[in-house]
Amino acid sequence: MARLRLGVLVSGRGSNLQALIDAAADPAFPAEVALVLSNKPEAYALERARAAGIATAVVPHKGFPDKPAFEQAMTAELEAAGVRLVCLAGFMRLLSPWFVRHWHDRLINIHPSLLPSFPGLDTHRRALETGVRFHGCTVHYVREAMDDGPILVQAAVPVLPGDDEHALSARVLEQEHRAYPLAVRLIAEGRARVEGNLVVLEGTSAPPAALNPAD
Ligand code: GRF
Repeated sequence: MARLRLGVLVSGRGSNLQALIDAAADPAFPAEVALVLSNKPEAYALERARAAGIATAVVPHKGFPDKPAFEQAMTAELEAAGVRLVCLAGFMRLLSPWFVRHWHDRLINIHPSLLPSFPGLDTHRRALETGVRFHGCTVHYVREAMDDGPILVQAAVPVLPGDDEHALSARVLEQEHRAYPLAVRLIAEGRARVEGNLVVLEGTSAPPAALNPAD
């Protein structure tokens, strides 16, 4: 069966992109990275894509008069590459309602917290300051509000005594690299159905979507 064509939007180091590339290296994985698109020409993620022989595009946000023109240019690149699912992976531009609606239920994001806790930036620092005992990451469909939308996969990690932002972010990132390929797999296999604000998972009696560091 044809694999689901992914467009991965990046701005930086691209470790989540790498997790998707590595997952898709298995021919049995039901999705493939068709295009890596960056708003920043210097993003290290682009080198990862090139090293894997994946098509890249650079659409610099500064090169357009306004956000609609920028987003239409990105959409043209994605559609020309036959992308069916857009994955945000460290893409550091806020997307307009037009883009979010255009890609409705075909646009997902990974966020480094257990949403709805800690939307926005500096999630690891804020988790430490709040004293939560568990932290983690969330893969979700994108809606117009930032870091909001039906949740596909979450993974939790403990916050340990002596943790600093570096240690905690590394522990979460390890789980991000498991959670993102799992979320893509659930969608590509047609096992994730959006019902209102929820994702209902099908075809599994023990949902694999609550990843646990112990498993
Ligand atoms: C990750 O922590 C992701 O959750 C957040 O941005 C970071 C991107 O890291 N949205 P990378 O570029 O995938 O390494």
